[in-house]
Amino acid sequence: MLKTNLELPDLFEIEVPGDKSVSHRSVLFSALAEGTSKISGFLEAEDPLNTMKSFSKLGVDYSKIGPYEYKVTSPGKKKLHSPSDELDFGNGGTGIRLAAGLIAGLPNIRAVLNGDESLRKRPMKRIIDPLRVMGSQIKSFNEKETAPLEIVGRILHSHNKHTAILSSAQVKSCLMLAAISSDVELDYEEPELSRDHTENMLQFLGGNLEKKEGHRFIIKPPFSFKGAHFKVPGDISSAAFFIVLGLLAKKGNLLIKNIGLNPARIGILTVLRNMGGKIIEEDLREECGEITGNLRVYPSILKKTEISKDLIPSIIDEIPILTIAGLFSEGGFKISHAEDLRAKESDRIHSMVHNLKKLKINVEEYKDGYEFSEVQSLEIAMVESFMDHRIAMSFLILNKIINLGLKIDDSSWIETSFPTFHSILARL
Ligand code: S3P
Repeated sequence: MLKTNLELPDLFEIEVPGDKSVSHRSVLFSALAEGTSKISGFLEAEDPLNTMKSFSKLGVDYSKIGPYEYKVTSPGKKKLHSPSDELDFGNGGTGIRLAAGLIAGLPNIRAVLNGDESLRKRPMKRIIDPLRVMGSQIKSFNEKETAPLEIVGRILHSHNKHTAILSSAQVKSCLMLAAISSDVELDYEEPELSRDHTENMLQFLGGNLEKKEGHRFIIKPPFSFKGAHFKVPGDISSAAFFIVLGLLAKKGNLLIKNIGLNPARIGILTVLRNMGGKIIEEDLREECGEITGNLRVYPSILKKTEISKDLIPSIIDEIPILTIAGLFSEGGFKISHAEDLRAKESDRIHSMVHNLKKLKINVEEYKDGYEFSEVQSLEIAMVESFMDHRIAMSFLILNKIINLGLKIDDSSWIETSFPTFHSILARL
């Protein structure tokens, strides 16, 4: 097995920045709500800040009032207006897909939604088709149906009922926001539960959501919200990098404070515990409809585990860092049923396999995942980020654990989600 060289202090305490998914949604729901809102714990990273800039072009005022804290003043959804130029969501798939739904349901708004080179490659058909079923006027300018997207908002019709083939929180939230902005009903079912922050925030604002059997729910109008105080917990997807680091340390304990522990997001804890990792949840509480708490992480010996299909939506963003844990696991690592990894900020199956091969790890690629047996050694090489923050951070964590001088071509992508990543790492 690969050897780790990392020693942590007796108690290494960290906080990670606000949850990216919840930060995006706090921008969108505070735009929908009439009056003044406050957002605390907001993730001041490129992706959510781009969503904020986009909605300020629609007439919402976001003023920074303290560290990670914003005062939001919105005229309410009916008085938002067309932007004078293109909306730029940068690298943010969540920003563009959720905003597309919200804008599609607002009559009299016309907007063009765009993003960077990576975002312009990502599939948008998954939202275009169901939005059209609801009567939306949305078009892409190319055959692949990727961004830029032009939307002419209008009152949509109810959708009874949408049965999703893919468990995607972005698609689900896009349709929910379309129904919410048009004040129509949506009956939605997905095969597995994808993150349910939109459902939680809707209910936190007093909206009507009826749970049905399986992973099905119905939301019904009216959706008239007043300003509220949105509290964003720390991001479990960012904490995941340090959880793996803490488990693989030779000694010392890690305490991560104020983390969102939504049951649809903590698949990473389940998998790491199944691998033998000791992680304790403590001080659990509920804030704005989201379970929040602290995590204690102890050095552990890891072994291979089978990752079942139903866990995939809840670990979808953590697979790159889980793979790094797999490099130190007795028996190796295997991921399957994860074809949608190919549609993330990069094709993450290709990005991981390509980089592991550069480190001379004998990895086998599949359509929906990859596999390697127990790793005895690796070679130092230049790793490629593929314009993907999570690929960059995963290999920087590996480098910290083995301490052998691994290099990465471009780590600037980390700014899209975790601006304090380097400073936390540097404290070690
Ligand atoms: C997100 C949903 C997931 C995830 C993304 C954030 C969200 O995407 O990968 O980072 O905030 O709704 P999919 O819905 O495409 O799986």
